[in-house]
Amino acid sequence: MKLVHVLNGPNLNLLGTREPATYGTVTLKGIETVLQKKAKAAKVKLVFKQTNREGELVDWLHEAGHAKAGVLLNAGAYTHTSIAIHDAIRATGVSVVEVHLSNVFARETFRHHSFISPVAKGVICGFGAQSYELAFDAILPYLA
Ligand code: DQA
Repeated sequence: MKLVHVLNGPNLNLLGTREPATYGTVTLKGIETVLQKKAKAAKVKLVFKQTNREGELVDWLHEAGHAKAGVLLNAGAYTHTSIAIHDAIRATGVSVVEVHLSNVFARETFRHHSFISPVAKGVICGFGAQSYELAFDAILPYLA
């Protein structure tokens, strides 16, 4: 069965109450529920996780690579800082769609640089919770 891992980084567990003007009011659980429905319809197994730790995201990218899963990755602020996450994507060759709820290019300049974009298949940002749904559709052609 085709497999998608949705990996969420720091502070995304606070969605729903975190800066709603920027990130909306949908919770991470709400996003998972919608994605699980889409995955079922597409006959894809979907694993959905969140961590506040950079190394855990690295471990999960290794696992996704071994499992030949496609990945939707919202690495939160680690997007803009983490060479370790960049290297994990390169090292495993895992197919990643980078996801952001907010339009990072319309925000502070420190959010304009991503260490993930150069090793991602593509980037979807700015559509709130719907960014994840668009990213799910985008990863489908890359699934083994
Ligand atoms: C984010 C954007 C990042 O700049 C920020 O640090 C986040 C969330 C987004 O989904 O819009 O934590 O990845």
